[in-house]
Amino acid sequence: MSQSLRFDIITIFPDFFREAFEFGIIRRARQAGLVKTKAHDLRDWTGDRHRQVDDRPFGGGDGMVLKPEPIFAAVESLTGASERSAYDARTRVVLLTPQGRVLDQELARELALMDQLVLICGRYEGVDERVSMALVTDEISIGDYVLSGGEPAALVLVDALTRLVPGALGSETSAANDSFSEGLLDYPHYTRPPEFRGMSVPEVLLSGNHALIARWRRREALRKTRRSRPDLLMEAELDERERAWLDNEDE
Ligand code: 6GU
Repeated sequence: MSQSLRFDIITIFPDFFREAFEFGIIRRARQAGLVKTKAHDLRDWTGDRHRQVDDRPFGGGDGMVLKPEPIFAAVESLTGASERSAYDARTRVVLLTPQGRVLDQELARELALMDQLVLICGRYEGVDERVSMALVTDEISIGDYVLSGGEPAALVLVDALTRLVPGALGSETSAANDSFSEGLLDYPHYTRPPEFRGMSVPEVLLSGNHALIARWRRREALRKTRRSRPDLLMEAELDERERAWLDNEDE
């Protein structure tokens, strides 16, 4: 049986996601039954007349904090469990927060193997800590900058994971050649015309020599990585010849 990954997003802005899931790879993967996406309105799990999801912080300070009760009720109804230890083995409950572990391709690969991901979109000001204490298996950030809420981050996570579900990219392409798949950035791409506004396509790409082309691409990927993300080169697996290429280039 082929894998299916279900995303349950808990948010105060469910409409934020509607159209986003209707395009491109995510749409195709949904139509093929490879992923399911559902954005749930947190307010549906409130019990009061005002459908209140947040309240003022104990101890004082600016902003509002998301209350625990509606989030506990939501996670309980979506997972069937009200504490971390009782989830199914392939269920994770993720809190999107700038305090989390920064998402990278390795974490994306790990999460893409799950059956169910419940994504809790935090607000910038915060989420009651008891949510993290009892419910959350993974706190995830998408980078070192501040968003007003976890919604754009949840969307990023859904996209990054969906393209890793086998079959989602179709047969003509695969995630194996993506940037980061081997710890390096991608090589440059060209299409027609061969000459445009005085800039020509590198000769080797027109040569038909696939061994040479592969070597050129690898070298350009190394160059690009060193220029834009030298931190990645530390971790990348390079052979002797590749180390020598880099050593012999003056930058
Ligand atoms: Cl997941 N949430 C917010 N509010 N800001 C972020 C983030 C998440 N990741 C980076 N910045």
